[in-house]
Amino acid sequence: MQDLWSHLAAHHKNPPSECVRSCSEGLGGGPYDGTMSNEIQTWHYGLVARWWAEFNEGGNDIAFFQNVIERCGGAALEAGCGTGRLLLPFLRSGLDVDGSDVSPDMIAWCAAKAEADGLSLNLYTQAMHELDLPRRYRTVVLCGAFGLGGDRSTDLEGLRRIHSQLESGGTLVMDHHLGKYNLDSDTMWQIPENLELPGPWPDKGDRRRMSGGGELELRTRLVGVDMAARSIVREISVLQFDNGIEVANDAYSIVICSYSATEVENMLIEAGFGEVRVTGTLEVQDPALDAERIVFEATA
Ligand SMILES: C[S@@+](CC[C@H](N)C(=O)[O-])C[C@H]1O[C@@H](n2cnc3c(N)ncnc32)[C@H](O)[C@@H]1O
Repeated sequence: MQDLWSHLAAHHKNPPSECVRSCSEGLGGGPYDGTMSNEIQTWHYGLVARWWAEFNEGGNDIAFFQNVIERCGGAALEAGCGTGRLLLPFLRSGLDVDGSDVSPDMIAWCAAKAEADGLSLNLYTQAMHELDLPRRYRTVVLCGAFGLGGDRSTDLEGLRRIHSQLESGGTLVMDHHLGKYNLDSDTMWQIPENLELPGPWPDKGDRRRMSGGGELELRTRLVGVDMAARSIVREISVLQFDNGIEVANDAYSIVICSYSATEVENMLIEAGFGEVRVTGTLEVQDPALDAERIVFEATA
């Protein structure tokens, strides 16, 4: 993991072409500049990607999505696979699953983890609304990756692209977090009147020790709300410490579009899916933790 980090760090000082594209087109986010962009703006780069690689493993949702892939049979794709929290366990279980993600850094960590485990897989650095892969799949999994980085038109195009990656009769299974501002309404998007923007950074960050030594500390805050677009912008800061001394820091921002369950259902139908089912919350140990999380299964 340490070697990969040195590689990625060097990569960013002297980026190869795929990275130049993401940096020059603003795909990598960067500190919030007060505007909302139509380009993909996410925060899963640099030290944030490293945070994911170090600390985001396991979860009860892995078995849930794996069951769907096994039930549907055939090859699967996880779009927005990140550092492989779900994808790597799928592969370890012998399933034929490819991965795609907009962030080359997340993909690089995923590839390194797969290699360390002796797993071979197909990984693609592609934004969802630009998905164009050589295979057709029986199942596409979307976990924690819908509504990120773009706007309503890129999100709809992403669902269309997923639809065209599926075999006829194939299944999209996706989770969706009902935004905290639209929990109980399909038409109203309500913001607390006294909301302070940009919001304050939390006093205390989430500081954790990495496997190879050193620590990372993460904070996030709300910096923008676009009522018309029904999207928010959050900013993230990750600091790296060696022996208690700060040695690196990264800050990025992410756009998150808010959708009601009905809106997602309508988007799926508009994207070409014939049958859409809302299967409710995932089976988790503590349902209270996932009270805002619903799952859609849609048939191509
Ligand atoms: C919250 S992480 C989830 C990762 C993984 N699915 C999991 O559950 O552990 C979201 C991932 O989606 C990717 N992502 C966000 N917006 C995307 C987009 N528009 N197209 C493709 N990938 C995107 C991010 O780079 C990130 O790796």
